[in-house]
Amino acid sequence: MDKKMDKIKEEIKFFQAQTSEDLERFRIKFLGKKKGILTMLFKELKKEPIHKRKIFGKIINDLKKKVQEKIQRNHSRYFMKNENILNFDPTMPGISIEIGSLHPISIIKNRIIEIFRKIGFSYVEGPEIEDDWHNFTALNIPIDHPSRDMQDTFFLYKNPDILLRTHTSSVQIRYMKENSPPFRVLSIGKVYRNETISSRSHFMFHQAEGFSIDKKVSFSDLKQTIQYLIKSLFGKIKIRFRPSYFPFTEPSAEVDVYYCDHNNNTGWLEIMGCGMIDPKVLNNVNIDSETYSGFAFGIGIERLAILIYKIHDIRIYFDNDIRFLRQFKSDF
Ligand code: PHE
Repeated sequence: MDKKMDKIKEEIKFFQAQTSEDLERFRIKFLGKKKGILTMLFKELKKEPIHKRKIFGKIINDLKKKVQEKIQRNHSRYFMKNENILNFDPTMPGISIEIGSLHPISIIKNRIIEIFRKIGFSYVEGPEIEDDWHNFTALNIPIDHPSRDMQDTFFLYKNPDILLRTHTSSVQIRYMKENSPPFRVLSIGKVYRNETISSRSHFMFHQAEGFSIDKKVSFSDLKQTIQYLIKSLFGKIKIRFRPSYFPFTEPSAEVDVYYCDHNNNTGWLEIMGCGMIDPKVLNNVNIDSETYSGFAFGIGIERLAILIYKIHDIRIYFDNDIRFLRQFKSDF
């Protein structure tokens, strides 16, 4: 019986219908009510002893399923199309497909990538789940630094070494460790901080991280790069550099943009942190800080969105309200 089964199995496996008659013949051959091969086998089975009946019963049932599948597949592949063509009225108007729009954050992300591509920055991405070393230690953030605070950082698996990255500066470390300068790199992605959700802050937001390392990179290169970005995004707009502090840059600055909102309120809005990469950070990733220097910056994408779209409540960006999202059409 085994051999017989194998032969049947092969035949089912390699069957391919050319016409609908072929397919009907195949069905009758195996499942025909009177003389179908499988129908007969089911009849023969009744004469077998009980223990054999169980085993062969299952095998025959599986074969039956295979035949039915084969019929189904051949039917939809070869014949449904033809039937559809017959039923199809070519004068009927087409069904228009609604074209979606990109999320506003994706639109800004694509614009920034394009702006930096023009001045030779390549684009990379890094993981959102990080370890302490890439997110903090290698960036010269000491163990008692407030940004490591339990209240700011989401740790995973109750393990203080695995966390959701709090900034995209961790990508600097990953890239610098694997590549030798000179390079110019941009990375954009989500970052996480344990903050209460309000119109101004969220536990998840996006950052764009840029960094450039070469011989003789100076603060004026950083300034020019930032000015080029702001001009490309906003045209003519007032900006200012304010001295600041980050453990991984020295000197450090924050950049504010002068804005005017829909109620004609004006003021300075901080949009990024930046600075010259601290030589200690370069040493941590085995880049010779005597030969090379570099700058880095981290931009808050939602902050740019406030300026570009004049929508001040950042919660709206993540509500997934289709009426809000529909409004964003873009070439990108
Ligand atoms: N990582 C900093 C932050 O999240 C921003 C920054 C990036 C500052 C690069 C300096 C250089 O606030």
